[in-house]
Amino acid sequence: MTRFLVTSALPYVNGVKHIGNLIGSLLPADVHARFRRQTGDDVLFICGTDEHGTPAELGAIQAGQDVRTFCDEQHAIQADIYRRFGLSFDHFGRSSSRQNHALTQHFYNKLDAAGLIEERELSQIWSAADRRFLPDRYVLGTCPGCGIDAARGDQCDGCGDLIDPTELIRPRSALSGDCALEVRTSRHLFLRQTLLVNELNDWVDSRSGWPPFVVSLARSWLTSELKDRCITRDLAWGIPVPRAGFEQKVFYVWFDAPIAYIAATQEWADAGPSGRDWRRWWRNSDDVQYIQFLGKDNVPFHAVSFPATLIGSGESWKTVDVIKGFHWLNFQGGKFSTSRRRGIFTDQALEELPPDLWRWWLIANSPETSDTDFSVRRFVADVNKDLADVFGNLVNRIIRFTHQAFDGRIPAGGQPGEPEISLAVHLERRIATLRTHHEALEFRRAAADTRAIWSAANAYLQRAAPWTTIKSDPDRAAVATRTGLNLASLSAVLAWSIVPALADRVRRAFGDNEDIPRWPSAPCGVLLDCGAGKQVSQLPPLVQKITGERADQLADRFGD
Ligand code: MF3
Ligand code: ZN
Repeated sequence: MTRFLVTSALPYVNGVKHIGNLIGSLLPADVHARFRRQTGDDVLFICGTDEHGTPAELGAIQAGQDVRTFCDEQHAIQADIYRRFGLSFDHFGRSSSRQNHALTQHFYNKLDAAGLIEERELSQIWSAADRRFLPDRYVLGTCPGCGIDAARGDQCDGCGDLIDPTELIRPRSALSGDCALEVRTSRHLFLRQTLLVNELNDWVDSRSGWPPFVVSLARSWLTSELKDRCITRDLAWGIPVPRAGFEQKVFYVWFDAPIAYIAATQEWADAGPSGRDWRRWWRNSDDVQYIQFLGKDNVPFHAVSFPATLIGSGESWKTVDVIKGFHWLNFQGGKFSTSRRRGIFTDQALEELPPDLWRWWLIANSPETSDTDFSVRRFVADVNKDLADVFGNLVNRIIRFTHQAFDGRIPAGGQPGEPEISLAVHLERRIATLRTHHEALEFRRAAADTRAIWSAANAYLQRAAPWTTIKSDPDRAAVATRTGLNLASLSAVLAWSIVPALADRVRRAFGDNEDIPRWPSAPCGVLLDCGAGKQVSQLPPLVQKITGERADQLADRFGD
């Protein structure tokens, strides 16, 4: 038994997220956490909302609420959506928690004591029209790197470079459009990451199992692009900076957000029964395997800045073992955009269809090695085929037949023959491969293996056709039915991490009410020949096919 710490990038609190956010971190993290629980490992799956910084402040202004009320409401809305998607967090916390306040200040104090904090005077953009310093992302202008217009002052959408708003050409306020921006100076704190460059490089060298593109991103951040990072902001909402002269400032959201992975673990320990120990996961925990799930824009913060915080503190904090990064899910040729509400939002997705249809398609098409395109037509075709025609059909057909021919009980007669033996040999190999792909965090492959197992099961039943042999050879029909039923239940157990709600309906029909279905360990020959005499409940159609008419409605709503 290994201990697996799994975190998903913390979604910004403002606004419901789109399905691109779901596949870029939350969903694969959930699938992996579920898989590791199935194999009997000790899992802690932590996430939460990222509540500081300008997105939250401005979201609140737009909603006409004070920031805290806004965050309370938005946190609850997102938590509810993720619960409905079946995301099985051990804890879904908040970066604004008192635990995170204390821990962020703790890290700051340690870094300061280690000589890694430096005060610098910064020129900042002040808007007289807005009567405030403009946060980086609220300054728009031409990117000095790639020249696109309307680049944001924090990170350019065109070339991905992190930029300083004062570097923008022809800057203007994103709030008021004010072009008469002034530059004023203000004192800020910098984390001197450049002093840690050797340690950080050694640290990256000592990791393995990262997707190659994540390694290259990390390397490039650690060479030419490594800069000291400003970790304070002129904002009212955030974690106060415990230093004289900084009473009006707070920590930069990207300083405190990853620390909230730890703080949310403390929230989990504080909220639960005694005996929950957050330190087991985060302090001196070489025996913990820590995996982070995140989108590619988050790589620099997780491969450089957060490790710099942890290593720079001089304390023995757990650092990540594997960063599983994802490319983008594009929406019908273009980008998903929260601000422009382009794409499919997680609340809309749940209004339209059961969560597992989305889960299945997103995992089967996850943007692991390159960007992937979502289209309503492809989605409908894939889901109908994989879930309705293959998985659903397998399960419903054999259960229905069992009720017609065997009173709803797994029949006892006959002995497995050649078809069952070669099926067992085939499945044995397939299940081992599926497990390997889950272990390697290869989600598309894991989905493909799962689908292949469903297909093999269907193909077996098609050939064995107990509905035909029941008259001529009842023993053969009994073996085929018993095998078919066990295939249905095994298919559900193996698919549980990806489509937990569908799998649970199947499992319950078989009287399997355990919270977590154990990964099968017995030989397939035994698994396929078991359960004689056991009652199996009737099961309404597992997956309703999406009709042409429904597909048109979806295409209308989501623009295909
Ligand atoms: N809120 C950030 C985003 O959506 C992710 C924060 S991840 C954390 O891009 F590590 F900082 F928490
Ligand atoms: Zn650019």
